[in-house]
Amino acid sequence: MTVLGINAYHADSSAAIFVNGKMIAAIEEERFRRVKHWAGFPSMSVAFCLKEAGVTLEQVDHIAIGRDPMAKLGKKLLFLLKNPGGGFAAVKNRLNNAQKVSSIEDEFLQLQQVDKATLKKKIHNVEHHRSHLASAFFASPYEEAALLSIDGSGDFTTTMIGIGRGNHIEVIDSVDFPHSAGIFYTACTQWLGFPHYGDEYKVMGLAPYGSPKYVDALRELLEFTDDGLFRLNLNYFRNPKQGIISYGDDHIPVVATLYTDVFEQKLGKARQKGEELTQFHKDFAASVQRITEELIFHILTHLQKRTCLKNVCIAGGVAQNSVANGKITRNTAFEHVYIPSAGHDAGISMGAALYVHHQTLKQQRQPAIWSAYTGSKFSNEEIETILQAKNISYKKLSDDELYNYVADRLIDAGVVGWFRGRSEFGPRALGGRSILADPRRSDAKDLLNAKIKRRESFRPFAPSILKEYVDEYFELNDVVPFMEKVFPIKKEKQSLIPAVTHVDGTGRLQSVDAEVSPGYYALIEAFRQKTGVPILLNTSFNENEPIVNTPQEALDCFLRTSMDMLVMENIIVER
Ligand SMILES: [Fe+2]
Repeated sequence: MTVLGINAYHADSSAAIFVNGKMIAAIEEERFRRVKHWAGFPSMSVAFCLKEAGVTLEQVDHIAIGRDPMAKLGKKLLFLLKNPGGGFAAVKNRLNNAQKVSSIEDEFLQLQQVDKATLKKKIHNVEHHRSHLASAFFASPYEEAALLSIDGSGDFTTTMIGIGRGNHIEVIDSVDFPHSAGIFYTACTQWLGFPHYGDEYKVMGLAPYGSPKYVDALRELLEFTDDGLFRLNLNYFRNPKQGIISYGDDHIPVVATLYTDVFEQKLGKARQKGEELTQFHKDFAASVQRITEELIFHILTHLQKRTCLKNVCIAGGVAQNSVANGKITRNTAFEHVYIPSAGHDAGISMGAALYVHHQTLKQQRQPAIWSAYTGSKFSNEEIETILQAKNISYKKLSDDELYNYVADRLIDAGVVGWFRGRSEFGPRALGGRSILADPRRSDAKDLLNAKIKRRESFRPFAPSILKEYVDEYFELNDVVPFMEKVFPIKKEKQSLIPAVTHVDGTGRLQSVDAEVSPGYYALIEAFRQKTGVPILLNTSFNENEPIVNTPQEALDCFLRTSMDMLVMENIIVER
């Protein structure tokens, strides 16, 4: 049985395909379109998934669309009636979106010629948050787990809790738009002078430089309710009727300014882009991060009491808060936490497909998903053809020679572009499309920023660590395959790996498993044998663009920046 899932007309549009419950391919459309968070119909991702699975659209049994225009329809209409006059823009936007969703069949038909009536019968609409819940639970190793989906908004919901048992998800409760943890965090992010969609991680990176002095002031904006959920004080946030997010013809998501004059009256004037980041801003970032963590623990503590379960699965944009994720087992009674590699909206395609496969079609569970390598792959021959056409000289080494050669270059202060195997599904590079450096170098951060990234100096770089050594370097021992959790680094180890130790002594780790990532594991092992340190600094292979997808894009990035070495499969290009 073949199930194709898509996230369309929503940020981070994507497609995923499952054959008999096994994920064959999943990819974000931004990787093909080369526009971050691209939000149209994911036609290139769909074509890629069909090709990887070796099927035509005709042969796909079910198509799962991670969106249900009918979800909470009554509440939506009531909301519009109760808030008249606010927004022609919002209503128009909604209508436009509804039209787009209804034309989804035509989009498919443009891809491949199939009978429209047959196609229509294959389509299932899966509500946004149920898709998030399914992406976490059905991919997890748990037979039974509590579930949380938390984001900005989707299908008029911003938060959903539930229980997963076997091949079934039961929804317990939800929070309606516009009361949203995502809207709260994004408003604060914008107020701090970071205006772009997806800038929230900058606040998370800045937070450890401040102290959470303003948590009490923020409690006025974000109220924790006795039912284990929350509500926003809407005076501080944009009237949702005026529209929160829009997608232009370029399919780039643009978020409106979400904080209001009342917000500025209470907390001060918003920082303008480029204005100095003062201690006040850092303290504010720390406060936003702290209250968000408290909110997540508040929701999870209630959820745990309600379910009496020890496992929890989480997804949604707010579940990208790796700092909060890393603290869950220390601050709630949950003992195990699973978060998929694409916990954000790209994961909707995967979740919708999983929902249809298990919940709708009642198919049995499959082994847990620990690998995010579901994207594009290229052969040595394809890479050599590109290099030869451009007259670029290169070396071709066997695997073992290559790991040693690259490890030596890293030790010699090299910054290495590492392009091997299939690309990752989700926002993190995990050794498929990564830029690597020696984590022992105290100047590695400056080196990377000077040579490639040119990003804000307060943002940390992350460690990939062989999974057998997590316990030796971190205060917590856990499987963290997708860099989805931040853990404290043991005090005595921090000075050994300064390049991946954040200012508060933490690191957003990837625990590297030899079975899941054999090549990447072997490289880190070669580095360990030479240095005694089982860790590499890993950042995504890009420069102000979506992560590179093809050898051509990797080569362009290498040539544009001052990277020292480019490794693509068994091919090495050096300066
Ligand atoms: Fe979402």
